Amino acid sequence: LDDGVAETPPMGWSSYNHYSCSPNETTIRSNAKALVDLGLDELGYRYVGIDCGWTVADRLPNGSLTWNETMFPSGFPAVGQYIHDLGLLFGVYEDAGIKTCSTGADQAGSLYHEQQDAATFMSWNIDALKYDNCYSQEDTGYPNTDYAPSTSPRLRYANMADSLAAQSKKVLFQICEWGIDFPALWAPSLGHTWRIGNDIIPAWRAIFRTLNQAAPQTSFAGPGQWPDLDMMEVGNNVLTTPEEQTHFSMWAILKSPLVIGGALKDEWKSISDASLSVLSNKDVIGFNQDSLGHSASLRRRWSDQGYEVWSGPLSGGRTVAAVVNWAGEARELTLNLPDIGLQSAGIVKDIWNKKTLSNVKTTYTASVGAHGVMLLELQDTTTAGVYASEDFATVSG
Ligand code: GLA
Repeated sequence: LDDGVAETPPMGWSSYNHYSCSPNETTIRSNAKALVDLGLDELGYRYVGIDCGWTVADRLPNGSLTWNETMFPSGFPAVGQYIHDLGLLFGVYEDAGIKTCSTGADQAGSLYHEQQDAATFMSWNIDALKYDNCYSQEDTGYPNTDYAPSTSPRLRYANMADSLAAQSKKVLFQICEWGIDFPALWAPSLGHTWRIGNDIIPAWRAIFRTLNQAAPQTSFAGPGQWPDLDMMEVGNNVLTTPEEQTHFSMWAILKSPLVIGGALKDEWKSISDASLSVLSNKDVIGFNQDSLGHSASLRRRWSDQGYEVWSGPLSGGRTVAAVVNWAGEARELTLNLPDIGLQSAGIVKDIWNKKTLSNVKTTYTASVGAHGVMLLELQDTTTAGVYASEDFATVSG
């Protein structure tokens, strides 16, 4: 939706990956404050998203949604105000079915209540709505009813998009349809971001799976329309530093929203320095927020040696390239420049190795950690006439 709300991929923090469907006021406040205390807000992380678990099963007598008073004793508007007073943006979660996806306690969904709910959200002064897709048909009782032929996610999402559009303030509309109905083809006219796959889990294998689900959809990226690879697991103590670098780099260059899913700070935990430094890398954030808005899935090449190369254009005639080491051991990898369409580069910036080289011709070699990534920014390049090797297939979305 090109209405100025998401000219570049949205960035922020969400409660779900760490706190699941049990967010509460204390943890939301302390994580929001940590965004500011850690300087993450200044790097662009501004949305604070409260995911599933904030509401209850029953609507108020007048039909409007309300918050869980045990979890949010000061009330949702007060929490939103706290977030706004920090200079941040307030995001809320709902669902395009009769119930949200929350497991355990039932929680009311927005189906058939779209106009009233959009007005309620506006009265709480929200800035973003993540809109999920469970229980889209009353009679199945099965959460993921998009498989049922009679449901139309597009129509249900359009009802909420129209209801939001009728409000006084524009909000970020995050379409969470898991990529089943190839939302890249319909979601960009309704919302600002659309999920490309099922939920991320806190495990390395989810990074591999999500990238493969993302590949065909990310070429639809552009100002106002961003493929959502899901909230990140960086900071959740399940990935090594090279794995977190790969995860963050790939989400960034495929133009996903960058939503931190780890606990930044609560009663028990503070994010590690290593994870914070991954999330704070200005070059990588710059690739994500680049004005051109192209995804680096434009050229994706697999090697039989257990690595792959992704690349794409950045503004100012620059190119970004990532060589992902899928092997479980550190090794030296070589990027053949012709495999990304180039012959030479006046400047190659190796982001995670913190090195800059000049006058690089034909190849660039560096050591890459187990499951790590060689992430390069190439400037002043010359174009290759032909591709160097035949064993690469070009796959674009
Ligand atoms: C779905 C969404 C997740 C999360 C959960 C909440 O699975 O895809 O991102 O919001 O619901 O239950």
